[in-house]
Amino acid sequence: MKAAFIRQTGTPDVIEYGELPTPEPGPTEVLVKVGAVSVNPIDTYIRSGMIKVATSFPYIVGCDLAGTVERVGSQVTRFKTADRVWGSNQSLFGRRGSFAEFAAVDEKWLYPTPAQMLDAQAAAGALTGITAHLGLHLNAGLKSGEVVFVNGGAGGVGSAVIQLAKAAGAKVITTVGNAEKKTLCESWGADCVLDYHSATLDEQIAAFTSANGGLQVWYETQVPTNFDRTIGLMSPRGRIIVMAGRNARPEFPNGAFYVKDLRLFGFAMFNATPEEQRVCAESINSLAARGQWHPPIGRTLPLAETAAAHRLQEENTLQKQGTLTGKIVLVP
Ligand SMILES: NC(=O)c1ccc[n+]([C@@H]2O[C@H](COP(=O)([O-])OP(=O)(O)OC[C@H]3O[C@@H](n4cnc5c(N)ncnc54)[C@H](OP(=O)(O)O)[C@@H]3O)[C@@H](O)[C@H]2O)c1
Repeated sequence: MKAAFIRQTGTPDVIEYGELPTPEPGPTEVLVKVGAVSVNPIDTYIRSGMIKVATSFPYIVGCDLAGTVERVGSQVTRFKTADRVWGSNQSLFGRRGSFAEFAAVDEKWLYPTPAQMLDAQAAAGALTGITAHLGLHLNAGLKSGEVVFVNGGAGGVGSAVIQLAKAAGAKVITTVGNAEKKTLCESWGADCVLDYHSATLDEQIAAFTSANGGLQVWYETQVPTNFDRTIGLMSPRGRIIVMAGRNARPEFPNGAFYVKDLRLFGFAMFNATPEEQRVCAESINSLAARGQWHPPIGRTLPLAETAAAHRLQEENTLQKQGTLTGKIVLVP
């Protein structure tokens, strides 16, 4: 089968595209004929060696996938040949990556693809959707009627946070870099979309939140978290989510934090158990069935162009060029 893989960590140039053996599914694995995959920032951290999980080579890159079941291992109970499935968490903790024509995936990491969704959409919203759900629900315990601020609403995670928070009955305030991204966030239901370049951004956030019952949940997707700013804008007993910037060392205003009775949650989606992730996936599938889940796709490329896709992801997530709106999807 054709696959995108590395023989060593490094720049995007280390990604090769070529023939590797088609995997044999183990007893609990499903062999998926991959219809689409999507790129996440973590794919680039693994490829570069910043996250040291690529230790045996050739190493197939990529976490997310969607496709059709080709055949199943002897102990698989939840899927059968020809079912449509999506999933995430591949290429981590010794698992093979998803960027190939076929992927053998343990059934615990797979979910049925709603009939309404194309493989490209299901792959685009896989890791980001689960991440948004874990932050809002497992960690922050979001309640209907609360106000959520998500920094970076047009990003992979941000776009999912807006849609999932709105579906949970929250009011959502977010930031974007241009007018096109503002329109997109509004189409997902964001109640207030602000330009993160604005010199009066914090005053505008405060004006919205004070007119709407305060600010209960801050979902930070940016690096580093500015705790002075965030804590200053939060309501008492609010919850702050931090999930980006593993090398960041921000200052932390101790007193301002505890006198407001705030809580701080940090998490990495890949630490969540398969059972926890399945709760997220089933909830996301229900939203999709009700027409409330639209993962944005910004670029669609052939799988052979995985190196270019990694460059584009880095230009946006790390260098903040703002040239991408939506996920990068690749098709084998
Ligand atoms: N802990 C976890 O489990 C987990 C899971 C997924 C991702 N992450 C991390 O979360 C971060 C975001 O991931 P992602 O996939 O959403 O990345 P992404 O798709 O590249 O999105 C990044 C967003 O940041 C926005 N942005 C840039 N400068 C900004 C600023 N000054 N203020 C506010 N927003 C700004 C961009 O907005 P514009 O497009 O409007 O310019 C862009 O939409 C990454 O660091 C990633 O590694 C962690």
